[in-house]
Amino acid sequence: MAIHPPSRRIWWNEPIEKDEIVWIAIAFLWGLVMFGMMVYWHVAGRQNLSTKAYRIDPAVYEQRTEAFAEKYKVRDEGESGIPVAKPPPGADIYLLSRLWQWWPVLELEEGQTYRLHIMSTDWLHGFSLQPENINIQVHPGYEHVVTLTPTREGTYSIICNEYCGINHHTMASKLYVVKPKKG
Ligand code: CUA
Repeated sequence: MAIHPPSRRIWWNEPIEKDEIVWIAIAFLWGLVMFGMMVYWHVAGRQNLSTKAYRIDPAVYEQRTEAFAEKYKVRDEGESGIPVAKPPPGADIYLLSRLWQWWPVLELEEGQTYRLHIMSTDWLHGFSLQPENINIQVHPGYEHVVTLTPTREGTYSIICNEYCGINHHTMASKLYVVKPKKG
């Protein structure tokens, strides 16, 4: 309690205690181990995505996404008026995030591979696919490209996990994975 001044005025200029040195060393070494694990988990883990990122003008990205949605639109998503795009297997698919929506809604086929592009056209958002818990930071001006193959049909949720303003909590969407049509 600093009600009285310390008895020695130069109280901070002391050699570091041995215990403290040991803990600093442990924390530093653990940091190095985890740094190595980041690389290792790209190979062995399931959560560290190997995305590619390209710098792109948001207006260009927006145009590409709109063209994509127009081309593959199958219906509107409920009342929201956001189009649901169902691209063919192997396609480049586009998702954009902006205040406060994910656009468009994607419908993919189980077992097929797609190249997913994600970018924000305004602020920093966080792509979080639940319940799979796949997370990507979405920056304005940088397009992430991820190759993905959905393995299980179902309705997944996309939420924003970077605080992006007053309606951050409403920034949620869906991703549909359906069985491929036979014949
Ligand atoms: Cu977008 Cu939070």
